[in-house]
Amino acid sequence: MAEDIMQKIVSLCKRRGFVFPGSEIYGGLANSWDYGPLGAQLKKNIKDDWWKQVVESRDDMVGLDGAILMNPKVWEASGHVSNFNDPLVEDIVTHKRYRADHVIEEWLEQNGDKPFYLDGQLVVEKLSVEAMSLEQMSKFIADNGITSPDKNELSEPKQFNLMFATHIGPTSDSGNEVYMRPETAQAIFVNFKNVINTSRKRVPFGIAQIGKAFRNEITPGNFTFRTLEFEQMEIEYFIEENGWEAEFEKWENWMQNWAQRIGLDMEKVSKLNVPKEELAHYSKKTIDFEFDFPFGKKELWGLAYRTNFDLTNHMNHSGEKMEFTDPMDTKRKYIPHVIEPSLGVDRTMLAILASAYCEEEVPGESEGRIVMKFAPHMAPYQVAVLPLMKKDGLEEKAQEVFDLILPHYRAEFDVSGSIGKRYRRQDEIGTPLCITVDHDTLQDGSVTVRDRDTMEQKRVPIEQLLCVLAEHLST
Ligand code: GAP
Repeated sequence: MAEDIMQKIVSLCKRRGFVFPGSEIYGGLANSWDYGPLGAQLKKNIKDDWWKQVVESRDDMVGLDGAILMNPKVWEASGHVSNFNDPLVEDIVTHKRYRADHVIEEWLEQNGDKPFYLDGQLVVEKLSVEAMSLEQMSKFIADNGITSPDKNELSEPKQFNLMFATHIGPTSDSGNEVYMRPETAQAIFVNFKNVINTSRKRVPFGIAQIGKAFRNEITPGNFTFRTLEFEQMEIEYFIEENGWEAEFEKWENWMQNWAQRIGLDMEKVSKLNVPKEELAHYSKKTIDFEFDFPFGKKELWGLAYRTNFDLTNHMNHSGEKMEFTDPMDTKRKYIPHVIEPSLGVDRTMLAILASAYCEEEVPGESEGRIVMKFAPHMAPYQVAVLPLMKKDGLEEKAQEVFDLILPHYRAEFDVSGSIGKRYRRQDEIGTPLCITVDHDTLQDGSVTVRDRDTMEQKRVPIEQLLCVLAEHLST
């Protein structure tokens, strides 16, 4: 059933122009996706709202737009060269590769009520798979006879670095290797001093950034959930060490409220306090915001207390001072700590799609409808203007109405097909309001406004239209 819903969402995305398979005319490229006209707009709405809320509406935040390619020393200092690994096993016959921890987790899910063994010993308490060493994984796989999905033997697990490497210049010499950034965060850390020196911001303050990140994921999948190339919206909020718990809580509340603001189904949002042994190499505390996707409950966003791990390491590796001088007490210099809310744009969009998707019966009609119940400020189009028919001057009148609306709202003009089919199409792309221009419009200067969710229709004089739209669409 859930798989069915996921299939329906993927097919709607293709059918209506939200998301297309990447490089489709060449047979595609596994796990790459292109955002179509509606998907590109939805993604932009997500990023615009986030930027507006965290940068433009606050005095303690500034923005940054860092480069994707950075000096490789950045990734040595950040710990990504040595620690940003996933354990990998290979099917020795097909040579397909799998995440060793995922293989074990899936085996545990299927064999949950059976006893299982590690190191020849019966293990009774719940295993934290992410915390297992390579050796433990190897023994676990051998002791329990775990095979690949194709039922073949698996190789010994080994660590696999997730960073994509490329080369600058015409030759691929070892000296000119650079990495595609695996997180946007590091551009913020390496520019910390530049921002302090050029802006008027003082700790506590934050730097926000939106941009692409790249990870050579061993097992990508589930549509746009885990891909090789994705966008992040990240904040590094610089604070004093004392009182980090209160700042962490403020951002936790902010994320919870923003989830609601962008129209996520809050019954599907939950939080997981990541166990100590599973924390990323830089984190002292992390909360995962999880979402109940049709394919299971999975991480949506992360909130981490990164201490002053990154600034300290960059100071040690680069020799540049990363200290902040307290303006109230000029003798006191310290390396600020950070709270990091880290959000994936693509995953956010997937959660919005899954929250919005509804199948409904329509009273008096044999066929039901699919309707995407987006929050009005997230919907790709907020208004559609539909002349009842092309002739009798209705198209021209509708064009006048469209010209009135377009400077204020994201609007679409649609003239082709029966009015019923056009309403269904607008329901499927989640347009909150449809405005129909009919013969009465020519007589009395009023139009029909149809509400996407209730399907109720009311007549509105054209001169009051912008006020009525503002009532429905304002955030
Ligand atoms: N700077 C911290 C950081 O990058 P992360 O938990 O690895 O933390 C943050 O990533 C967010 O980025 C995730 O919660 C998710 O929303 C998104 N993300 C991470 N890997 C992804 C992938 N392969 N595909 C799509 N989104 C991803």
